[in-house]
Amino acid sequence: MTEATENSPIVVIKNVSKSFLEGDNCRPVLSNINAHFKRGGFHAVIGRSGSGKSTLLNLIAGIDLPDSGSVQINESAINKISENERTLLRRNTMGIIFQFFNLIPSLTVQENVRLPLDLVGIDNQQERVTNILELVGLKDRRNDYPEVLSGGEQQRVAIARAVVHEPKLLLADEPTGNLDYDTASQVLEVLRDVVQQRTLILVTHSREIASHADEIWPLRYGSFDSPESES
Ligand SMILES: Nc1ncnc2c1ncn2[C@@H]1O[C@H](COP(=O)(O)OP(=O)(O)O)[C@@H](O)[C@H]1O
Ligand SMILES: [Mg+2]
Repeated sequence: MTEATENSPIVVIKNVSKSFLEGDNCRPVLSNINAHFKRGGFHAVIGRSGSGKSTLLNLIAGIDLPDSGSVQINESAINKISENERTLLRRNTMGIIFQFFNLIPSLTVQENVRLPLDLVGIDNQQERVTNILELVGLKDRRNDYPEVLSGGEQQRVAIARAVVHEPKLLLADEPTGNLDYDTASQVLEVLRDVVQQRTLILVTHSREIASHADEIWPLRYGSFDSPESES
């Protein structure tokens, strides 16, 4: 990696607009938004329900494409590359955490966590899986199935799965939205532990959750206000 790349933002959103068709109507969700997320640290995007937070994360992940503008990851515009290249970029560079955990019910905890390693083609899997499960405090539950775990435990498995292949960018969509206050605090702690040299972009409707971030981007009426720095 060149020096310029190390100092450049990991994600740059330039003049991005996105709308959805609802019957015959076009509903604008994001209107010409601009944002840049610095490499490293914990960035929160805060906005009320329906403000376009999940839409934005899907654009950053390359799961969806903007109508106009560009989304750059590591200085490459992911809306200008092929779908295949986007899938590879997502697998190699990103880990994604969802509100409802999205674990595969027919796989054990460690089989769920191992999945990204299979996709990326990394060997020495067992050691990595064991280490990451230890980090999130679930090594003893490795042979259990998701259904016997609590919500907080399932989310910790999902965090382990999101970071096991050591992606530089972690995306989290309301990761504590389905958890009670104490469990949410524990999950946030675990997220903080795993972020380390990575970049976390977390979207939430909760000011309380966002207050843990180094930088907060408020999303209102389809546009960003200036970021707020917590430190
Ligand atoms: N795939 C879709 N098709 C149609 N409308 C959508 C789609 N995804 C999101 N929307 C609409 O876009 C708006 C923003 O949704 P979303 O990004 O999920 O908001 P948030 O995550 O902030 O709650 C909502 O009005 C939602 O109904
Ligand atoms: Mg959402």
